[in-house]
Amino acid sequence: MSSKVKKNILKLKESSTLAINEKSKELIKSGKKIYRFGFGQSPFQIPEKVVDTLKLNAHKKEYLPIQGLPELREKISNHLFKNTGVRYSKENILITPGSKEAMLLMHVTFNGEILTPAPSWVSYEPQAQIGSNKVHWLETSRENNWFPTAIELEKKLKKIGKNKNIIFILNSPNNPSGAICKNLKELAQVAKKYKLIILSDEIYTDLSFDNRYKSISEFYPKATFISGGLSKWCGAGGWRLGFLAVPNESKQFMNSLKSLASESYSTVNTPTQFAAVEAYKGDYEQYKLKVRSILNSVGNYVYNNLKSNKVIINPPQGAFYLMPEFKNKKFKTSSKLCEVILNETGVAMLPGSDFGFKPDKMLTRLSYTDFDGTQFFKNVKDYKTISDEMVRKYAPNVVEGTTKLSNWAKNL
Ligand SMILES: Cc1ncc(COP(=O)(O)O)c(C=O)c1O
Repeated sequence: MSSKVKKNILKLKESSTLAINEKSKELIKSGKKIYRFGFGQSPFQIPEKVVDTLKLNAHKKEYLPIQGLPELREKISNHLFKNTGVRYSKENILITPGSKEAMLLMHVTFNGEILTPAPSWVSYEPQAQIGSNKVHWLETSRENNWFPTAIELEKKLKKIGKNKNIIFILNSPNNPSGAICKNLKELAQVAKKYKLIILSDEIYTDLSFDNRYKSISEFYPKATFISGGLSKWCGAGGWRLGFLAVPNESKQFMNSLKSLASESYSTVNTPTQFAAVEAYKGDYEQYKLKVRSILNSVGNYVYNNLKSNKVIINPPQGAFYLMPEFKNKKFKTSSKLCEVILNETGVAMLPGSDFGFKPDKMLTRLSYTDFDGTQFFKNVKDYKTISDEMVRKYAPNVVEGTTKLSNWAKNL
């Protein structure tokens, strides 16, 4: 008898992020100190007023429209307009349980092939597999800040061949590199020429350390889909509130997404949508400035104390990740490298191979969020002057883990 599980689903494996967490838990149980540099979650508290709004609306129990609360869609439309200059109408915004679901629905709906840079977030490829869409990887380099150049993009598109529907995924600031894409305009020009659809994953864009929200939609509004939500800038990952903004020209796509939403999750939970209205309409600029500044300081601390002739890293630009490269010939794969580092130093990181790199590239993803964000936030009076001393005081695990890692790397 044939397998009862579909072939494309059988191919999926448990996310490696979870695997490293399991291994870390085991080590903690056996009494070992673990530095949780593998996990990508905001350490900060959700702004109090947003939490209060959730409480105030906890009794609301009726279903909201499939597409989401109109007021919330309007606020997100305004938020995008303010930041990108592009008006995604509220009719073309879909509220989803996390932006991950928004992207999954896109993959399920889309008839074509996916092009994504290496490195890319761990879920794009499995989601494409669920949607039965072929995936093409486009390798990037440190010299180009881990984003493709326009020439590289065009070369790849020529190789893929003509007359294909293609979604090009772009995520800036990037998970796992922590880098910001500086050549959006050039990439958009190629995208236009080849009539690509762009999925601009902007879940971290509010966490750009230069305090500028840059989106490729500005240069190619006709075919740029934007995903985003509350998980990162607002520290509300567990609330599962995301959105997808669909270009006004893509009505058919939008209608299909709505049908999928209605036949799967129906609508996002009501209280959270009301709380999200507050998050998108209130003035959280000061909150964001402080959060960015703390992350930037911690990221720079790690960068300055880890870079050496054995560990090459680009400086942090956004989100909460760095992507160190370890110079060595001892290990065959980045996953073996991470395993040995975890056992010998207690530092948990994810291997570069999880993000689309060839296994023999000695890259890892380091997340510098292993600190009490509430305490750190409370004690920052002036976000412009966060010293290394403050990082040592309020992010001791990050500091200690960095020292362990740096000492370990000296013996490579
Ligand atoms: C690059 C990237 N995109 C999207 C997501 C999904 O975020 P959420 O589903 O919580 O909105 C994540 C979360 O880790 C991410 O790192």
